[in-house]
Amino acid sequence: MKEERNLRKVFDQHVKLEEFFTGFSVKSQKPVQPQQPQNNDIIAELKQLAKEVDACRKCVLGTTRTNAVPGEGNPNADIVFVGEGPGADEDAQGRPFVGRSGQLLDKIIIAMGLKRSDVYICNIVKCRPPENREPRPEEIISCLPFLKRQLSLIRPQVIVCLGAPATRTLLETNKPIGQLRGKFYDFNFDDFSPPIKLMPTFHPAYLLRNYSDENRRKVWEDMKTVLAELGLPVGAKHSEDRPVPKK
Ligand code: URA
Repeated sequence: MKEERNLRKVFDQHVKLEEFFTGFSVKSQKPVQPQQPQNNDIIAELKQLAKEVDACRKCVLGTTRTNAVPGEGNPNADIVFVGEGPGADEDAQGRPFVGRSGQLLDKIIIAMGLKRSDVYICNIVKCRPPENREPRPEEIISCLPFLKRQLSLIRPQVIVCLGAPATRTLLETNKPIGQLRGKFYDFNFDDFSPPIKLMPTFHPAYLLRNYSDENRRKVWEDMKTVLAELGLPVGAKHSEDRPVPKK
């Protein structure tokens, strides 16, 4: 009986979580963003990078995974979402954020008035850590050049770091994500280019595990700050005329 009540509670929480982000979604079937011109060089470089990721055996993860998950999305994206590492679903499909966390991330992106194909999505490590453990420092260090190359090719206006491992890696800090989220930081991928704004927020998996109005509102606040930085209107729940982030 108690077990049934607990299950009911979990189920109700998930329904609420779904409703929360769906409430912000753009219900239009029309594309929100016109096709952006795609730079052939960037596409070619990203393809080349994906091949290198596929062939990479610099750390043990390259030998235990099924498929490498280099990342995917718009090569001209203004926003790049960076997660921690592929899970089982991602490992099976070779695509980032396609499991439960990915479904929530999709909802968040739609709630922002964007489509998944408008943004770029990748991870700090490109191969699944066994049993979904956190990637180890040596694994992150050997994989990081791939992410830095992706960022330098795409040159987004904003990087959204999903969760502590991605945030701590790119900001080189050990501070808790609760303390880091909600503010922009400068991310420098080399000594010559202007910094990119980096927004840390909670990982969708954390949100799924730690359901609370407060946590999901915090993530939404973070995404509104990102939209404001890109000059997009905030809070226009069902606007079909939402301007598109331009390079
Ligand atoms: N979690 C991540 O951090 N990345 C994925 O691609 C999927 C789940």
